[in-house]
Amino acid sequence: MEMKQIRMGIVGAGTWGETHASIYAEHLFADPVAICDMNEERARAIADKYGIRKVYTDYHDLAADEEVDAVAIVTPDFAHADIAVAMADAKKNILIEKPLATTKEDIARICEAVNRNQVRCMVDLHNRWNPPFNTAKQEISSGKLGTPYTAYIRHSDVKWVATDMLSWASKSSILWFLGSHSLDSLRWLFDDEVKRVYSVKKEGILKELGVDTPDIYLTTIEFEKGGVAHMENGWVTPNGNRNINDFRCSVMCTEGMISLDLSSHNLIEEVTEEKASVPDILVSNMVFDRCKGLSYESIRDFVDRLVDGREFRVTLEDARKTALAIIAIHESADTGLPVEVEY
Ligand SMILES: NC(=O)c1ccc[n+]([C@@H]2O[C@H](COP(=O)([O-])OP(=O)(O)OC[C@H]3O[C@@H](n4cnc5c(N)ncnc54)[C@H](O)[C@@H]3O)[C@@H](O)[C@H]2O)c1
Repeated sequence: MEMKQIRMGIVGAGTWGETHASIYAEHLFADPVAICDMNEERARAIADKYGIRKVYTDYHDLAADEEVDAVAIVTPDFAHADIAVAMADAKKNILIEKPLATTKEDIARICEAVNRNQVRCMVDLHNRWNPPFNTAKQEISSGKLGTPYTAYIRHSDVKWVATDMLSWASKSSILWFLGSHSLDSLRWLFDDEVKRVYSVKKEGILKELGVDTPDIYLTTIEFEKGGVAHMENGWVTPNGNRNINDFRCSVMCTEGMISLDLSSHNLIEEVTEEKASVPDILVSNMVFDRCKGLSYESIRDFVDRLVDGREFRVTLEDARKTALAIIAIHESADTGLPVEVEY
């Protein structure tokens, strides 16, 4: 049977670009045909591993490739906009890794190009596919807990992510790297938009380790309809933490409360003579030869919805509003004053 295949291009052959390649390679309706990275060796290594036929070092060449239907942009946080605009102008549908972009100008440029070219665009804010969050959303939407009143969310990484995993942490922040996920989740659970934010940051630990970015942000978020949330995003959890992500959330509603422990993948404990560990089976794991976990499901859903034409579960407007609220949080932490979000 002939099936419609989405011919995918990938820009950015780093850690997460490889995740994208693996998903498109196994998806029944996707065919990864091209990959681009300034580092040709890296792009070629992933191309060889996943059977991707074309390797580019300039994303303009990938944009000009007529065989490519859709493009995943998996470059560092601050390097999404030029590529997204070029792909939209080339009439490619786009999946952009979170965050959408990190400046107001870049956010506006991407939205303008997507709308002008009438292409489809999703941003990979994948916590909506996180089973505990997804269940919380269903429970809250059912109305049996009343309406969300206040919430607390903590979403922090161990230091190692900033010091070793990302080469560009100094040019980003934990607010972009994880806060965009946390804030999108809060917007989704509250079914509301952020009105005003007040954030206090602390810095010094990472600077001492040679990474020029704040350690942690403690933020109060006021929603339009009156809900209030506290959001904590840090990049300095001790490396000995058995979970890379320290991730908790609790939402108090007018008639009930729901609490999620998202950091402990403690369904499995493995102990050797040297150490105990708790392998992840929520975010990205393998079941037989198939990738499972929320970080794969969102990427699959992008392909599925290109095939059947349904609206993306994270709209460009969701990603735009999340990114603008994150900009306001940075501004508040820098000035020490509450900031109203400008949409
Ligand atoms: N959804 C998630 O859970 C998740 C997880 C990890 C990373 N990410 C996001 O994915 C993106 C990439 O992160 P990463 O960890 O893979 O980074 P990385 O540093 O491992 O890889 C980025 C790659 O992009 C390439 N690159 C940069 N600018 C380019 C350009 N103009 N043209 C071509 N190639 C270019 C670099 O050479 C590098 O190989 C970031 O936005 C990050 O926040 C998302």
